Amino acid sequence: MKPLKSKRQFPDVPHFVGLIDWKLPTFRRTKRRIDKAVTIYDLQKIAKRRVPRATYDYVEGGAQREISYERSLEAFKNLEYNVRVLRNISEIDASTDVFGKKVDLPIIFAPTGYTRFMYHVGEPAVAAVAEANNMIYCLSTMGTTAPDELAAAVPGVRRWFQLYMMQNREQSLSMINNAKDNGFETLVITVDTPVSGHRPRDIRNGLTIPPRLGFKTIAYVIAKPRWWINLLTTKKLEFAAFRGWDKPLAELASHIFDSSMTFDDLAWVKSVWNGRIVIKGIQSVEDAVRCKEVGVDAIVLSNHGGRQLDRGTVPLEILPDVVAAVGDDLDVYIDGAVMSGQDVYGAIARGAKGVLVGRAYLYGIMAGGQYGVQRAVDILRKEFINTMALCGVKNLAEIRALGARIRNS
Ligand code: GLV
Repeated sequence: MKPLKSKRQFPDVPHFVGLIDWKLPTFRRTKRRIDKAVTIYDLQKIAKRRVPRATYDYVEGGAQREISYERSLEAFKNLEYNVRVLRNISEIDASTDVFGKKVDLPIIFAPTGYTRFMYHVGEPAVAAVAEANNMIYCLSTMGTTAPDELAAAVPGVRRWFQLYMMQNREQSLSMINNAKDNGFETLVITVDTPVSGHRPRDIRNGLTIPPRLGFKTIAYVIAKPRWWINLLTTKKLEFAAFRGWDKPLAELASHIFDSSMTFDDLAWVKSVWNGRIVIKGIQSVEDAVRCKEVGVDAIVLSNHGGRQLDRGTVPLEILPDVVAAVGDDLDVYIDGAVMSGQDVYGAIARGAKGVLVGRAYLYGIMAGGQYGVQRAVDILRKEFINTMALCGVKNLAEIRALGARIRNS
């Protein structure tokens, strides 16, 4: 058989010129690297190279053998979407309402501790991205920025405050008041921490805030000089609510967490906070129903990103039962292992009002500061809308109506 040949012609110059990417190369290394990240996992790889091991491990790690976290990842992986074709999806709306106000994506920035430990600007850098994208930022009790400082830095962001009920009620009250006086609209009470989780990575790394400069740490300084220069040339890294604390983190946790707390204490919270209340860390249908009876506004099904009890409940698995049990009286969010827009889609399809993301944006901030957080949002948005289009739905109500299955379940 005679091999076929293409017919030759003179080069088509205008066509060739049209193929050239005229974008000027950017000489900012970080930006260039971040721009190449196509998935959250790409950001994770960059993050790992840029921060000290103890920082990365703190973000990435879970409790005990990290089985809860693995199972949450696995549950998202095992989702199987229902698909409709030949529907007009030319106009997709990824927005939703949270407590009566529109947000552009069903994604909330989860409260995460010590954000200045990941990137020297810390919490305000994340809040600024939330504001720019019409999303909600939730500040943690364990933040390295106090509520008033965050409000001063990013006054326009829609903000929630996460509270650990502390043994010292006066201290809890002073944090609640700081949040109330500084425009925080919702209080998120984390309830899966009667004691702190056992996190081997942090124990092995001897994690303290601020980090101690031992021999091992000095080796890290040499390995990640830029991170250390940022740390040492900006204000002292410490917990905004516990200034001066420099013992290991596990000790701080046992000083803070009130292991005697019960559902009855929520009445006290309601008496001192007149905004919305969200309970984070619910892991059973029974407790979700109790939250509804107590009269809070929303719950977050959460195993704390696998950082508290190992082998606890997987939020995505119990989600449909919880939603069925609480009906329309309570908004149900989930968190833990949301690493893509496809995961966000899956959570909504299984009945969630929205998701909270933690690690996904922390990879972004460790990889490239505020620019990296924005990249994480861009990635999640793009993947979410792409999944909506491919499943044949144009808004969140249609995602919920179409649903999704977990394979082999
Ligand atoms: C804080 O909430 C943590 O999980 O470290």
